Amino acid sequence: TTTASSDDLATDILAALDKSSQPLLSSDAFPSATFVDLKAALDRLASREMVKYDTIERQEALLEPEAEQIAANGSHEARVFEALRKAVEGLSVKELEEAIGDKNVVKIGQGKAFKEKWISKTKDGKFTAVADNITDTTQEQIKIVQQTKTHPDAKILADLKKRKLIRTQNIFSFKIHKGPKFALKIPEEATDLTADMIASGAWKTATFKPYNFKALGATQNGGALHPLNKVRQELRNIFFEMGFEEMPTDKFVESGFWNFDALFVPQQHPARDLQDTFYISDPKAADFPRGESSDDTKDYQAYWDNVKAVHQDGKYGSIGYRYPWSGDESLRLVLRTHTTAISANMLHKLAATKGPDGRPTPARYFSIDRVFRNETVDATHLAEFHQVEGVIADYGLTLGGLMEFMEIFFGKMGLHDLQFKPAYNPYTEPSMEIFAYHKGLGKLVEIGNSGMFRAEMLESMGLPKDMRVFGWGLSLERPTMIKYGISNIRELLGHKVDLEFVQGSPAVLLGEEDK
Ligand code: PHE
Repeated sequence: TTTASSDDLATDILAALDKSSQPLLSSDAFPSATFVDLKAALDRLASREMVKYDTIERQEALLEPEAEQIAANGSHEARVFEALRKAVEGLSVKELEEAIGDKNVVKIGQGKAFKEKWISKTKDGKFTAVADNITDTTQEQIKIVQQTKTHPDAKILADLKKRKLIRTQNIFSFKIHKGPKFALKIPEEATDLTADMIASGAWKTATFKPYNFKALGATQNGGALHPLNKVRQELRNIFFEMGFEEMPTDKFVESGFWNFDALFVPQQHPARDLQDTFYISDPKAADFPRGESSDDTKDYQAYWDNVKAVHQDGKYGSIGYRYPWSGDESLRLVLRTHTTAISANMLHKLAATKGPDGRPTPARYFSIDRVFRNETVDATHLAEFHQVEGVIADYGLTLGGLMEFMEIFFGKMGLHDLQFKPAYNPYTEPSMEIFAYHKGLGKLVEIGNSGMFRAEMLESMGLPKDMRVFGWGLSLERPTMIKYGISNIRELLGHKVDLEFVQGSPAVLLGEEDK
């Protein structure tokens, strides 16, 4: 599209060229048009071969404020001389300053006037004029520059510049000639060949607008993966590379049984409070735990009974919590507060598998999906976020093995030199918070939570005593925020997310530079 003003300018250029027998110089013909407007109008005309033009660069000299003063009043030395010529008796410095009204002019001017031998000093220390007539060369030079924006003598020009009396700037202008298709008006141009033009035959005489191959295309608003999805994909690749199987997390609603009871979280635990967990009011209760398909023959009643017993009375060598365990509480529906609910479900299924030795087979599971907590939303907390969860079940695992594994796993995310801090989870013992030193932030940051699942949880499911299970979890938001330099989680997730941020964020590799 062309603006009206560049339209007008193009027409003005054509009219001016028509009147002139010579090529036009844009700085003379259109002194007030900007370079950009002129170039746009000329390109428009040149693409239609209506004009041809060359770009000319020249230097222009401009007076500094001090030189403006010299042009008007004479050089400092000339002013000193003129003032002294009027005073027959000579003048003291003070009198000279009063006469000229500018201390600086006197200071610089008297020195130079001495050098030129225009003035001298009397016996009583006064200045007096000695020359009859002087030529104020500096003023003459400056006046030439003022009128012509340059000086024929390059040495003088350089000298004035050195004395900071003038500055130079590069001026671009255009030398414009008529082109082979010169006309006074830009012909009306069709942008498309239409069916009407073909039917009427108008296409034969129509002028078509030339293609502008330099035009920038319109921004394409294609789909874009959210940065969280990009980081999620990176993490999935790490898990797959380490032999993990992805858990099915396609349900947000869980029963208290899977979310808490199966994980040996007592029914009085503060995490189960309304303040921490979102409960579903309709439907009122979950079905009794059951398999997802009809060929699932696992004994859910036995599992339920085990969970009840281990909470209420103790079992498998544990004394339990010793409270009356409520089946109704266990069937309340919640928005899952962690994906460990899914891990529990998967481990329960694992207990029913039989390897070559007739015992459950070692397994590695992971998931990355959304969880919900009744949090007060602030810069680092949302009521819903994503959890990265991993589980390793094998025989004879030890805590040292978990720490070793964490070094390898987080190392693949670019996080090294981990630190472990004892922590507490109802479902793991021992439990450890995991920290890594973040170079960018210059401090240790908590990156995850981990532990070895408790016998109360695993044996209720029917897993053998010597099968040990590592578990760990981290938020997906944390590494993403660090990676993309986001300080407020609400810029990453929720209704405040800027779509341009989503579209403009490149996929990032979790790597060394994250440390
Ligand atoms: N569920 C824990 C959390 O929400 C993470 C975790 C998973 C810890 C498995 C230990 C074992 O923080």
